[in-house]
Amino acid sequence: MKILSIETSCDETSIAVIEAGGDISAPKINVLGHALFSQIETHRKFGGVYPNLAKREHAQNFTPLLVSALSEANLINSKTESVKMNAIASILTQEKFIKEEQVNEIRKLLEREPETTEALIDFLSTHEKPEIDAIAVTVGPGLEPTLWVGIQCAEALACTWNLPLFGINHMEGHIFSVLSDSSQPTTLKFPLIALLVSGGHTQLIKSDSAGKYTLLGETRDDASGEAFDKIARILGLPYPGGPEISRLATMAREKNVPKIFSFPRPMINTPDFDFSFSGLKTSVLYTIQKHGTLSENEKLDAAREAEDAIIDVLIAKTKRAIEAFPETQNIVVAGGVASNTELRERMKKLEEELNIPVLFPSKELSTDNAIMIGVVCYIRSLLGDVGRDVATNLKASGRLSL
Ligand code: KG4
Ligand code: ZN
Repeated sequence: MKILSIETSCDETSIAVIEAGGDISAPKINVLGHALFSQIETHRKFGGVYPNLAKREHAQNFTPLLVSALSEANLINSKTESVKMNAIASILTQEKFIKEEQVNEIRKLLEREPETTEALIDFLSTHEKPEIDAIAVTVGPGLEPTLWVGIQCAEALACTWNLPLFGINHMEGHIFSVLSDSSQPTTLKFPLIALLVSGGHTQLIKSDSAGKYTLLGETRDDASGEAFDKIARILGLPYPGGPEISRLATMAREKNVPKIFSFPRPMINTPDFDFSFSGLKTSVLYTIQKHGTLSENEKLDAAREAEDAIIDVLIAKTKRAIEAFPETQNIVVAGGVASNTELRERMKKLEEELNIPVLFPSKELSTDNAIMIGVVCYIRSLLGDVGRDVATNLKASGRLSL
């Protein structure tokens, strides 16, 4: 089954084509094409994601990324010249791949996305329907204005090509991102515990089988990625803060700089699976304000101590969940923060200690991407979901839960 998938929930526009086969116990995923544009540079000056700007960039980049993903998958002719020739030929022969009514339909669907309408109509008019079987798009959780861009473009494609459309939960995507790396095929064993750590979420989830999820606990305030980002800002580091804190913390460990700071590990001993990171951020702020200007080594130490504080809590709560559910077969760690090297190393130690395999996506696929959305679409279809037909509209849901 070939799936075209779309992810626009935050500041990454990503479109993928995957070919998926195999049964639910051993799905085989082959990534045929993947195009991703990260808006980090645009948002850096605001110190975080600016939703309306993000929405406009998603819309502007949608069609070029679609062309790039389909070309890489060899599903359209990638040579600009032949694309142009096709267009000229179709104009000369009056042969367009879509009819006037379809153009009107697309215009209606994309009413709220003027930045992409003409480019998408132009592409659809000059290209044959590619050989794909379904379209998948993230419907939430995330920023609603940006989710809508992906949804409306997906609807335009599904409508024009008469394909089933699957609305996918972004967090389910992160869980299945561990299957996304075609170079390292893996399987998931249930029941599993997933620690999902991103800029918007910190959740512990128990899954007894694909499609069945129980939220064990989540953050009561800031997400772990948000804590990295906010603490980085306090330390004068650019957005996104996670990779920056991680870089400084690694240097602190390599140089073995003296430990002078001590930050709290909020809720580390509470008998639940919830998290709280806003007190940590405040403590870092007050400590640094009181301390005054930081020397280079002091800054490295602050980054290391902040990273350790966040990771200590993530490890302790994951361990608590495993102790509460000893039948657990796999631990999945996914979401942007899962690309953190120290967290990976600490989780590997936990794997040895508990003798339960810990699975991560590759570092590149820990952050948002459309491949994971395509994988969930395949899993859903194996579970009997046939998707929606083109007449049924999808809805963006910013706070969608699993
Ligand atoms: O999953 P993601 O790409 O987007 C959301 O759905 O939020 O996660 C982005 C978050 C940001 O907060 C970023 O600072 C954090 O992941 N992050 C990291 C690292 N790389 C990205 N946090 C810690 N260490 C990293 N290496
Ligand atoms: Zn995410």
